[in-house]
Amino acid sequence: MTALPDAPATNSQIIADYRAKTPASAALAAEARELFPSGVTHDGRYLEPYGIYVTRGEGAYKWDVDGNRYIDFFGGHGALLLGHNRPEVIAAVQTALQDGTHFGANQEREVRWAQLVKQLIPSAERVRFTSSGTEATHMALRLARAFTGRRQVIRLKTHFHGWHDHVTSGFNSHFDGAPTVGVLPGVAEGVLLLPPNDLDAVAAALDANQDIAAMILEPTGGSFGMVPVDGAYLQGLRELTRAHGVLLIFDEVVTGFRVSRGGAQAHYGVTPDLTTLAKILAGGLPGGAVVGRKDILDSIDFAASREQGREKIAHPGTFNANPVSAAAGIAALQIIADTDACERANGLAETLRGKLNAVIEDEKVNWAVYGTFSGFHIFTNPRGGAVSPATFDPADHAYDELKSNPPGLVNKFRVAMLLNGADFSAWPGGLLSAAHTEQDLDAAAEGFRQVLRMLRQEGEI
Ligand SMILES: Cc1ncc(COP(=O)(O)O)c(C=O)c1O
Repeated sequence: MTALPDAPATNSQIIADYRAKTPASAALAAEARELFPSGVTHDGRYLEPYGIYVTRGEGAYKWDVDGNRYIDFFGGHGALLLGHNRPEVIAAVQTALQDGTHFGANQEREVRWAQLVKQLIPSAERVRFTSSGTEATHMALRLARAFTGRRQVIRLKTHFHGWHDHVTSGFNSHFDGAPTVGVLPGVAEGVLLLPPNDLDAVAAALDANQDIAAMILEPTGGSFGMVPVDGAYLQGLRELTRAHGVLLIFDEVVTGFRVSRGGAQAHYGVTPDLTTLAKILAGGLPGGAVVGRKDILDSIDFAASREQGREKIAHPGTFNANPVSAAAGIAALQIIADTDACERANGLAETLRGKLNAVIEDEKVNWAVYGTFSGFHIFTNPRGGAVSPATFDPADHAYDELKSNPPGLVNKFRVAMLLNGADFSAWPGGLLSAAHTEQDLDAAAEGFRQVLRMLRQEGEI
């Protein structure tokens, strides 16, 4: 079963103070509960007693309907490497809007957008735009099965690839590969779930099974490095998959244009056969893409399919390469190509990890903050062992320990962080943008200190 967040404690001062600070959000949440399951439109936005309702964002900040300002580490679910409302991106969107929002036809912007993708992402010989990352991973797996004529795909436990039927087991529940509710057993049987970071397990699976079409993974590890992998592992996978005629798919929906301009594949010098992209790709608007080897994407190509006597994969999609998303994507990718945005966000995250760990040491809490590139993860020590930020190494901990938290803690932690002026993600942790400043990091670390004290007072840590 998927772990469900606990209902909030009714006697919590943290929750009471949050309610007092956010009455207008509470009022909207009451309306939303009559409309949406749990009152939310994305599981990751679920918070008890309710999440904040945001009116606008600027740079590293966002403001709620009560006028409270938050330093944003949620980062548009990872889409906002450049922060909120980057002027060049907004200007490009405004220009595009004047031209029209949908032409039902080809347009120059999709060509310019794809050229930038091809320039930046090493594996991108051909590009196919989709409307989301979920659609991109769905198409990547279908392409792999069609191209190889094989049925199974290898996925890694803890790695997230969206919510279509082939990827629901094993990212934070159903680690045995059993289908999640509503998914056909036959679909789940087409997925071989392996432990992360275990090259021998992949080698054994490839030796034993001739029906494997592809292996897909998040190239910096499950949930953007919550369960990290390293370059040697990626290199090993490249060699193994090539030797077995199995396609290697990097899901760079988060890491693309973030880890480096060319994603994790450019950083590690490992080129996959297919890559999935979204989030930063479309500059903060909806959009995704599957990119990769021409001969594989030829399975979507009318003429190539005809010539090869193969059935073509159909790929419609009303909002594929939407012109407004294309405009935002072009502007964002151009900035990323021309500036140090990736390096800046990576450096800021390293600084923040250090600052949060210093607070943890000061406050003598049995936690540690870790992460790679522009992410940070808070290890909340669900099994209660001795942990020190100075020596913490996620490799010493089991994947299901890294992925779990003491019951009820994360909800209260996130509410307390909001109370102290910062929006963290439910990992718990967050993402840095190039728009954050050192001052923001100091303010967030100070807020984190207050949160640890509040949680201690309520007996949570
Ligand atoms: C690695 C990864 N793949 C795929 C997805 C799904 O993307 P989307 O939310 O655009 O469908 C996500 C979303 O967070 C992701 O992190």
